[in-house]
Amino acid sequence: MPDAQLTARSLETLLGEWRGGGAHYQALADRIRLLVLDGRIPIDTRLPAERDLAARLELSRTTVTAAYRGLRDAGFLDSVRGSGSVARLPGPVLVTAPTPGGDGMLDFTKAALPAASSLPAAARAAAEELPHFLPHSGYDAVGLPHLREAIADRYRERGLPTDPDQVLVTVGAQQAIALIARTFVGRGDRTMIEMPTYPHATESFRLAGARLVPVTVTIPPADAPHPVGAEEDGWDIDAIEQTLRRANPALAYLIPDFQNPTGASMSPETRARLLAATAAQGTIVVGDETTADLDIDRLGEHLPLPRYGSRGAGDAPVLLIGSASKSLWGGLRIGWIRAERPHIQKLIAAKPATDLGTPLLEQLVVARMLPQMAEILDSRRSELAAGRERVARLAAQTFPDWVVPRMHGGLAAWIGIGAPVSSALTLGARNHGLLIAAGPRFGLDGAFERFLRIPITYSEEETVRAFAALSRAWPDALREPSAFADAAPLPNVV
Ligand SMILES: Cc1ncc(COP(=O)(O)O)c(C=O)c1O
Repeated sequence: MPDAQLTARSLETLLGEWRGGGAHYQALADRIRLLVLDGRIPIDTRLPAERDLAARLELSRTTVTAAYRGLRDAGFLDSVRGSGSVARLPGPVLVTAPTPGGDGMLDFTKAALPAASSLPAAARAAAEELPHFLPHSGYDAVGLPHLREAIADRYRERGLPTDPDQVLVTVGAQQAIALIARTFVGRGDRTMIEMPTYPHATESFRLAGARLVPVTVTIPPADAPHPVGAEEDGWDIDAIEQTLRRANPALAYLIPDFQNPTGASMSPETRARLLAATAAQGTIVVGDETTADLDIDRLGEHLPLPRYGSRGAGDAPVLLIGSASKSLWGGLRIGWIRAERPHIQKLIAAKPATDLGTPLLEQLVVARMLPQMAEILDSRRSELAAGRERVARLAAQTFPDWVVPRMHGGLAAWIGIGAPVSSALTLGARNHGLLIAAGPRFGLDGAFERFLRIPITYSEEETVRAFAALSRAWPDALREPSAFADAAPLPNVV
């Protein structure tokens, strides 16, 4: 059964500027294939009827028929009786993960550091603790008490009084987002999201049936003062206030610190105005702090979001999401939600429908590592500072016209590439051994073709290889989307 129907109008928007120099049917098929590989057309989505798409794009029916036929022959479309043409992937497909020193694809779809160096010791100590838990069932729906205490302690250190029963442990921040979406967003409810944003959050809200209301985040100008004020931090707070009044969303999802993908950090004034405006509407605010600890050299005061409420914590519902993935290691899959008790209770009640508990061993590892956060973050800071300089240097050498923002934290640079060819560039780069997410993966409706997110988390050798792949793919990308040999879909984009 197909999952969703794409109208001719939505497909037209997703297609963006698809017409190239060659035959229309080929260019159309290439573009749809890219959208499927890139995840922007999810597998099992029903494409518009040929007649409707032809009318919408002002093409002959034969052109669309030929494009669909090409896609079908290549395994990207399937004709399902009674359901029309449904997006598929030619299978079986395997995306090779990079192997150290091996010849697999280099995977730059992940803006994530390798594990913190103290992790092996913490894992060994955690394994020694495990026998204490073995006589019990092992199903832990809310999180181990001492881990919840350690997480609450981190909030207290950051200036936000928190009790352990205000914390719910989840399987990564991703589960936290999906659970919040499913619990607090009803079908058809409006949800305000930043644009661009973290793509799997967009997917979670869509899956919950949200109507998305985007607000723009830009990269601060190179000459912005530091610390930035509300005028230059990248969030247009006047527009956000207006959107909140006009659309009255049920929920607003924001990444205030080292926003993924822009790296922007919200000024204290923007935070305060945001909370005042959401409180006035009764909009639930979700502050995703997955990347908030990854400070390189930010200046100024940045307390957790609820501290910017006018009457202190609790005057507007603010849910915070945290994660061990970016500071400790993504392989731990431990995240959490911090909220007022009634919200935590609702989330606990909703959670078993999709998951019966968080693995214990990983919780034990994180509980051991959280008290060492200050030292761990110090070493993360130097890794990220080196990565930031590396990407800026290689970009300046390889692509002098690209605009690399000065970011003060985060895991990736959101680079202006000067031409609307991000999708073509990333497709071409696959032929040279590099998987990387195109700008539009972080947007809605095909926007951000002039941007590319380059992680600052890889070694010198890997980053040099990535730039070499981009520079080989660049001339073709400027000419025309190239044919590509590798039909594997993009893996997760984190
Ligand atoms: C803003 C943001 N939220 C959530 C996640 C998911 O994090 P986790 O690995 O903890 O599920 C990511 C991962 O990149 C992210 O960037």
